Amino acid sequence: MSEISKLPRHVAIIMDGNGRWAKAHKLQVAQGHRRGTETLRSIIRESSDLGIEALSLYAFSTENWKRSPAEVGALMSLLLEYFTSEIDELDEKNVRIRILGDKDGLPGPQKQALIAAENRTRENTGLKLNIAINYGARDEILRAVKELAGRAARGEIAPEAITAADFEAALYTHGLPDVDLLIRTSGEMRLSNFLLYQCAYAEMTFPTVLWPDFSLEDYHSALAAFGKRDRRFGGRNE
Ligand code: FPP
Repeated sequence: MSEISKLPRHVAIIMDGNGRWAKAHKLQVAQGHRRGTETLRSIIRESSDLGIEALSLYAFSTENWKRSPAEVGALMSLLLEYFTSEIDELDEKNVRIRILGDKDGLPGPQKQALIAAENRTRENTGLKLNIAINYGARDEILRAVKELAGRAARGEIAPEAITAADFEAALYTHGLPDVDLLIRTSGEMRLSNFLLYQCAYAEMTFPTVLWPDFSLEDYHSALAAFGKRDRRFGGRNE
């Protein structure tokens, strides 16, 4: 891994391809998500070991409710299983968990488990692990607009005085750095409503490997490629 010259502060991952992996192996889609959860475990562990500051993973979008009840049920069960079985190890590794998305729209047991994970790890100072569940970037932006509009209507803030910092403070990701590197597996090249505001200057990479097959070697390659990118943020590096 010697070729990684500069680590991103914030990595975001769209974990795509579980369904195609399951189909290719003649398995139910739920099995693809289960294998995808194994990949997620190893990527979280590696990010923590490498000293990456923040990792954001897209686990369930506001649009994923359109999938079959069986698939939604399987994903919800996996979420509950994951947060119940992994919380001790994550806490031991000093990982701080934050859920991005609307927890109120989730079934009771899942909501309780996510709140418990956030509360238990609130004081941890290691990897900032953000898991997007019932998350959509447009929904996040709209919520921030409503919050600021409410404050303006109550006379707490003048509309013309609203700053980018005020807006960012109203997002689920408040206090986190912008995304430096976005990885989407399975070869699809879309953002699919993930962290649209936070990815304004993200470097992006789209490995063709399906998420259940995404290895530590693949992760290291993405990180190494990031280290070689010339980032200008709209300016010029002379
Ligand atoms: C996209 O693959 C993946 C998802 C919609 C779910 C991702 C969830 C996990 C990896 C596991 C559960 C999460 C946690 C936190 C335990 P797809 O099904 O859209 O793949 P396809 O495009 O090949 O059909």
